[in-house]
Amino acid sequence: MRFPPAFLDEIRDRIPISDVIGRRVTWDRRKSQPGRGDWWACCPFHGEKTPSFHCEDSKGRYHCFGCGVSGDHFRFLTELEGLSFPEAVERLAGEAGLPMPERDAAAEAREARRGTILDALSEAAAFFRQQLHEADGAKARAYLRDRGMDPRTQAAFGLGFAPNSRNRLKEYLAGKGLGKEEIEGAGLVVHGEGIAVSYDRFRDRIMFPIHDAGEKVVAFGGRAMAADAQAKYLNSPETDVFHKGEMLFNLAKARRAAREAGTLVLVEGYMDVIMLAQAGFSHAVAPLGTAMTERQLELLWRTASEPILCFDGDAAGLKAANRAAELALPALKPGRSLRFALLPEGKDPDDLVRDGGPEAFSEVLAAARPLADLVWMRETQGGSFDTPERRADLEYKLKGLFRTIGDEAVRRHYLDDASARLAAFFGAGAPAGRGHQGGWQGRGGGGRGGYGRRDGQKGRGQPGRAAISDRLARSRLASPSNLPAPSLREIAIVVGFVNHPLLMEEEFEVFASLDLAKGDLSRLRSSVLDAHATNPPDGREALLAELGRHGTAGLFEAFEAKLKAVRLWPVLAEAAFEDAREALRQMLHLQHRFQALRRELRLAEEIFGREPTEAAYAHMMEIKSEIERVDGTEALIDGFGLLSGRPMKAI
Ligand code: UTP
Ligand code: MN
Repeated sequence: MRFPPAFLDEIRDRIPISDVIGRRVTWDRRKSQPGRGDWWACCPFHGEKTPSFHCEDSKGRYHCFGCGVSGDHFRFLTELEGLSFPEAVERLAGEAGLPMPERDAAAEAREARRGTILDALSEAAAFFRQQLHEADGAKARAYLRDRGMDPRTQAAFGLGFAPNSRNRLKEYLAGKGLGKEEIEGAGLVVHGEGIAVSYDRFRDRIMFPIHDAGEKVVAFGGRAMAADAQAKYLNSPETDVFHKGEMLFNLAKARRAAREAGTLVLVEGYMDVIMLAQAGFSHAVAPLGTAMTERQLELLWRTASEPILCFDGDAAGLKAANRAAELALPALKPGRSLRFALLPEGKDPDDLVRDGGPEAFSEVLAAARPLADLVWMRETQGGSFDTPERRADLEYKLKGLFRTIGDEAVRRHYLDDASARLAAFFGAGAPAGRGHQGGWQGRGGGGRGGYGRRDGQKGRGQPGRAAISDRLARSRLASPSNLPAPSLREIAIVVGFVNHPLLMEEEFEVFASLDLAKGDLSRLRSSVLDAHATNPPDGREALLAELGRHGTAGLFEAFEAKLKAVRLWPVLAEAAFEDAREALRQMLHLQHRFQALRRELRLAEEIFGREPTEAAYAHMMEIKSEIERVDGTEALIDGFGLLSGRPMKAI
């Protein structure tokens, strides 16, 4: 019988494993530390004179460093005393004073049925594999070869071939002693009302076995060989062992690879997953022919805190990305989010690595955008926000979306972020923003090359975008401002963008909309914007030359000297691009947060001024301490130390 896992845990919790083992061994007094539940003995499984057998009560497990055996309470009894598993459970349950769980006949029958269905599936997988290598499989082998799939990859994923026959599989399985009920239960044949004789579901298809978390075959996807087949991909139906919305293709393997890769990538198709693995990206998974579900998101998050969802760069892909974003919002938690990578239009990851090699896909991943960006782009792209009503509508939509976030802290940060972006986007009362052009499409696939680079335009292709951002920035500069002197962070951001001009292609908007006080730093920023908008410089030297012509090169040098003085190396020219990018991202993030808080604080102070209540005071102080927290985070960036966020004396 199958025992509920919680019942077994309860036994393990109640009885220290050293009690179970101590009856069969003599503990080594010198090596053991009874007070800590840490025990050593000569191994009862192999003869030895010095103790290398170890068990720990807190872990409830034993391990022998000599012969390698290991296990838990039950394993010890079954291996050493020859008890069956149920006997071991019964004995220890008695010692723990726990009644044995009732036998659940229905559950046991289900369990037994599951077992035979799994047998049928595993036999079927063997049959398909075998067929791929026989005469009938020649066409399928040629097909896979033409698509560039190595035989080793085929074997690693257990690929097979279903011959064009209505009963070959059925007969093979019957020959293995499997009954009608299991074969039907496994979804391997088409049967039911109106069908006199059941027949093989998969015919003339390349077969992709689908594995569960324990790497058992639970279903198949079959790709048609014939171009005119009714469905390009045919998947197993839902069965007792296969629930499409609750699993992901290749999850077990990808999970192992994710440890090294640091994340998990979701793509759309089986072929994509497999060809990516062949190209060295073993951490990819795919849904099973249905749109992504909440449960699948959970599975991704169990392995990676920020999985990357990769979609086609066309309208359908964007729609799927947006759907996923809406699904994710309510489930966000601190530190748990998504990134989105969009592929160049008309290409899936399989096409991409075939045409451009692993490098091409790496670039797509590197260009992945955070969830917050995706939502922002979706709401602003192509829209027109030239009336108060339209702007209010944008605000209403964004905030409405973010209010679906379940986690209170994450929701607050999203709402702050939305306020900051809206304020920057609209400028201070200016008739700004005709929409967000370039946006996603320009980034997807372009990778570090960014805007326009892909078609060799060197970033000159989008005067519209530059002009809008520039106008946006100017409207901000023209507005009366009571902002304090620039902080070290603000200086570092502006200087960093000069030293690493490539970043401008990724973060132009953000740079343009930084909330800077009137003064030298904002003068420098606007001169950098001009340089980029009128005559995109090719590298740092060209940009410095342009600044020279604007008469702002001296300003830049003075600001940069300040950063050198505090050794804020990530934004200096010598820093590697990746490091600079990371540091600037972090600073920009903090800067946004800081700007939002500063606005909140001003409001809170106003309220307190009008009505100095206890609550208003508390609110004000809360915002102040949040500002300090933001500064504290920054201290983690090299060079910031205690100077962070605080105004610097004017130069
Ligand atoms: P695609 O149509 O993008 O196929 O479907 P693909 O991965 O590029 O495959 P190739 O390169 O043409 O061989 C992506 C996924 O959508 C599901 C499958 O899970 C497939 O892997 N799908 C597609 C179906 O379930 N049924 C279909 O008819 C088509
Ligand atoms: Mn494809």
